[in-house]
Amino acid sequence: MSELHVMEHPLIRHKVALMRDKNTGPKEFRELADEVATLMAYEVTRDLPLEDVEIETPITKAKFKMISGKKMGIVPILRAGLGMLDGVLKLIPAARVGHIGLYREPETLEAVEYYCKLPTDVEERDLLVVDPMLATGNTAMEAIKFIKKRNPRSIKFMVLVAAPEGIKKLQAAHPDIDIWTAALDEKLNDHAYIVPGLGDAGDRLYGTK
Ligand code: URA
Repeated sequence: MSELHVMEHPLIRHKVALMRDKNTGPKEFRELADEVATLMAYEVTRDLPLEDVEIETPITKAKFKMISGKKMGIVPILRAGLGMLDGVLKLIPAARVGHIGLYREPETLEAVEYYCKLPTDVEERDLLVVDPMLATGNTAMEAIKFIKKRNPRSIKFMVLVAAPEGIKKLQAAHPDIDIWTAALDEKLNDHAYIVPGLGDAGDRLYGTK
């Protein structure tokens, strides 16, 4: 069953609170999203496997633990997921980056993938899919469905703010995928915005509203 990890760290909670403030402008909002993504990447990578590597220090040769050649990929969901990409890459610079974009077909309301480019060796990679808001869960559910068709080795999903409705839907659709969120909020409102939330993450990142 999918595990839910809600971040407890005071730095993360403080920074997400600043992001929620409606008076926080795009520049600061972007910086905060970047910092929170870096802090979360530290938590999400806690289970990376280690191996013994011999290193020669200025004093002697000895064995030390290093990450054992695990191939990772980071996949932001367009467009707001881009706001978390650089923050994750700071800690995992060797990761390859994929992108996925979806839109809802106005008549059938079906999610259509309009862009998906993943690393060519995605079958050997563990993917971290990122998107700031897990609201209804529809986008995440569909994005992960499309990504799974490319057979990655594993998928984790990381968001900044989640609503219980979205978590429930995602876990029901993809019980094999663990979720990390910086904050777990109360509910969705009638317009599918997270309450208390932080508004439209894409608009706040890019100043488009
Ligand atoms: N997407 C957002 O950007 N914000 C919400 O509150 C819900 C979905």
